[in-house]
Amino acid sequence: MCGIMGYVGPRPASPIILQGLRRLEYRGYDSAGVAVANQGAIEVRKAAGKLDRLTALLEETSPEGQLGIGHTRWATHGAPTDFNAHPHSDPSESFAIVHNGIIENYFELREELLRSGASFSSETDTEVLVHLIAAEYDGDLAEAVRRAVARASGAYALVAMTAHEPDTLVAVRMISPMVIGFGDGETFVASGIPALLDHTRRVIVMEDGEMVTITPQGIRMEKLDGTPIEREQTEIDWDVEQAEKGGYPHFMLKEIFEQPRVVADSLLGRLSGTDVTLEDVGWDTGFEESLEKIWITACGTAFHAGLAGKEVFEGLLRIPTEAVYAHELRYRDPIVAPNSMTLAISQSGETADTLAGARLLQERGSRLVAITNVVGSALTHYSDDVVYTRAGLEISVASTKAYTAMLIAQYLLALKLGRSRGLLDDGAAREVATALEALPEQVESLLKREEGIDEMSRFLAGQLADKDDIYFIGRGLDYAVATEGSLKLKEISYLHSEAMPAGELKHGTLALVTEGTPVIVVNTQQHVYDKTVSALQEVKARGASVIAVAYDDDTEIEHYTDHVLRIPRTMDLLSPVLSIVPLQLLAYHVADARGLEIDQPRNLAKSVTVE
Ligand code: G6P
Repeated sequence: MCGIMGYVGPRPASPIILQGLRRLEYRGYDSAGVAVANQGAIEVRKAAGKLDRLTALLEETSPEGQLGIGHTRWATHGAPTDFNAHPHSDPSESFAIVHNGIIENYFELREELLRSGASFSSETDTEVLVHLIAAEYDGDLAEAVRRAVARASGAYALVAMTAHEPDTLVAVRMISPMVIGFGDGETFVASGIPALLDHTRRVIVMEDGEMVTITPQGIRMEKLDGTPIEREQTEIDWDVEQAEKGGYPHFMLKEIFEQPRVVADSLLGRLSGTDVTLEDVGWDTGFEESLEKIWITACGTAFHAGLAGKEVFEGLLRIPTEAVYAHELRYRDPIVAPNSMTLAISQSGETADTLAGARLLQERGSRLVAITNVVGSALTHYSDDVVYTRAGLEISVASTKAYTAMLIAQYLLALKLGRSRGLLDDGAAREVATALEALPEQVESLLKREEGIDEMSRFLAGQLADKDDIYFIGRGLDYAVATEGSLKLKEISYLHSEAMPAGELKHGTLALVTEGTPVIVVNTQQHVYDKTVSALQEVKARGASVIAVAYDDDTEIEHYTDHVLRIPRTMDLLSPVLSIVPLQLLAYHVADARGLEIDQPRNLAKSVTVE
């Protein structure tokens, strides 16, 4: 998720764009740039690094002009370098664009442009769009943009400009957010409301498939097929902080609600039928054929995603998989047989223990595959392959959307390996692919239910907020989810919580279960469903208060529980993507009921880059 700001009006554009970008900095910043129309030409300034580097550049020589676009980048294609920073221009430097999101078919478009003699100066998917716009231009920027985006698929938002029309910007929204702001004789466009609030509170939020032609006098709004649109301006009464959180009280809640989009983005352009394309995975079929063991190493939430991954790789592919905490691994003397692969999972890609554990296995001959959210992070520098999770910048210390994106990355890897090595037949692969494709919609419906999961977890949180100890149980994949549910709760609510496999209860922890002890059970795995029910009966008999996470159509569970948090039915293998959502919300609402900080829990850091 990048930040976009555009301006057209009577004032110098650069300072206004820069100020807007500052307001969007919370969304990520690995590079930044501006393009300004100046006397029949477009001047571009851009730099890798934080906005301060761009600010310094602009202090040296600031392009003059009253129309321009700017961007803060959170990379998805190509490392964060000066070249890859936006805006991108066509070779004649008469067109420039900024872009947020992913062009799914950029590779085909790029190949086609290369065949017709084009040359590219960046590794981004964005640059193909500006080439297409320039090629389509015959005197009308809006028409050129319309024709160019008709050839692109994906989820994106963009703003384009040309030196030939120095009072016009054209913006398109295709799923990624975009909003227009109205001043007196000046118009703004941005990827988020915070960027506009220093100038105006009158806005129009664009919807998917819409295009807007922006001039100082106002806008012309239409669908991409040319149908005109009339929409009233709305008045925003949020302050900047509220706007940054998208109207949610905390980033954590905002990020939980972003998960449908994150799951969709993580799949975008990667799954076609049962074929999986992972752009930065470069192993050959020989490696796949010979693969005998998978190591997974990570810390914290990423490790919990890895615990689920272990179940997936073993269950689906029957490839022996070992998940080890990176801080344990780094001081062990692991026996690394030939033909192994290591999945190092890390949201930040900078966790010191994960880097050390992963390096150790790599040094002993294991192929290193990074699963990370940060393009160009330390982990990617020495990994053999990378799967980017595309969750966008995660601000809350308690990780939510990055976790679900890590799950999706592992499902895709499993499907890819399963297909190319012949471990999954057509039917099995189709079942997984179809269920994966349904997930964004299912997560969305889960979060949007009326009187649904958010209200229910808020209600239950009221009952949990004054407890001392809360236990989470499950088996197999449900246990993996229980570990993450428990971590979410403890890290932000400061209540003691513990997760264990349901069968382990009777070997000790059952002694702690008395009248009213809260036990949260995840029970989605049909092959061990009854076994988990037995554990429930044991805790119920000691007076425990039981909350279950179970499928919508599970009518049996309520006989053994006090409350049920319902999730849509999916194949059991994919249930973690859904079953974690109520547990994230429960943790959030318990912390909220206890009046705690939430986004920045005491003693914890988002990324632990020292040992
Ligand atoms: C810290 C964070 C956790 C995170 C862990 C691993 O402890 O507080 O939320 O899961 O580091 O971080 P990584 O960036 O490697 O996923």
